Amino acid sequence: MRARLTVWHHGLVLDEPKLELHPTYPVRTERLLLRPLTAADTDALLAYRSLPDVCRYVPFEPMSREVIADRLAGMWSLTSLTDEGQALTLGAELAETGELVGDVVLFLHSRTHRSGELGYMINPQFEGKGYATEASRAMLRLAFEDLGLHRVIGRIDERNEPSAKVLRRLGLRQEARLVQNEWFKGEWSTELDFAMLADEWRAQG
Ligand SMILES: CC(C)(COP(=O)(O)OP(=O)(O)OC[C@H]1O[C@@H](n2cnc3c(N)ncnc32)[C@H](O)[C@@H]1OP(=O)(O)O)[C@@H](O)C(=O)NCCC(=O)NCCS
Repeated sequence: MRARLTVWHHGLVLDEPKLELHPTYPVRTERLLLRPLTAADTDALLAYRSLPDVCRYVPFEPMSREVIADRLAGMWSLTSLTDEGQALTLGAELAETGELVGDVVLFLHSRTHRSGELGYMINPQFEGKGYATEASRAMLRLAFEDLGLHRVIGRIDERNEPSAKVLRRLGLRQEARLVQNEWFKGEWSTELDFAMLADEWRAQG
C-alpha cells in the first residue's frame, strides 16, 4: 500500500485522494453527446427502458413512466460524483439529431480501493452501430483520467453476448465466471466479471 491511502505519518493524516468527478457537459465523442438526463427525456427513456427484452439481463424490471419520473428526480439527477456509493447516469444523444440512443452509468464503489463499475443500455432501434461502445469508452475516460479510478469492472449475465462483446471491445479482461451465483428473474444466472485497470487504460493509448 502506498501513501495514497490514509496513513499516520508523524501524527499527520495524509488523506485519501479526493476522488471527485465534475464533468463539463456535454461530454463529446465522435457521434454522441453525453449529458445528464432530464424530464424532457421521459418518452425517449420509456421507449426502451419499458421493454422486457431490453431488461432481460439487467437487475431491474421494465420501467413505467412513474418509475422513470422517480429515477429522474432521484438517482439520475446527479451530475457529478462526490462520494462512494454514488452513480452518475448520463444520456447519450446523437450529436447530429439530438435523439437519445441510450444511457450509460458509472458507479463509484470505493474511495479506498478507487474502484468503480460501468453499465450501459441502448434503445434497440439504435443497436448495432457501436453506440454502447462509444459512450462507454467516454465513461472509462472520465473514470480513469478525470475521477482517478484504479479499477473499473463490468458484470454481466453470461447469456448477454452483445454485452460481453461491448466489454471485450472496450478492452476489459474477463476475470471470473460465477456459475449460477444468482437467482435472477426466476432462474439461476451465471455471471461473467470483467475488469480494467488504469494502467491498462493508459496502455491502450
Ligand atoms: C448490450 C447493448 C448495450 C449493446 O449495444 P450496441 O450499441 O449494439 O453495442 P456496440 O457498441 O458494441 O455495437 C455493436 C455492433 O455495432 C457494430 N457497429 C456498426 N457500426 C459501428 C461503428 N461505427 N463503430 C463501432 N461499431 C459499429 C459493431 O460491429 C457491433 O456489431 P457486433 O457486435 O455484431 O460485432 C444493447 O444490446 C443493450 O442495451 N442491451 C440491453 C441492455 C443490457 O443488457 N445492457 C447491458 C447490461 S450488463
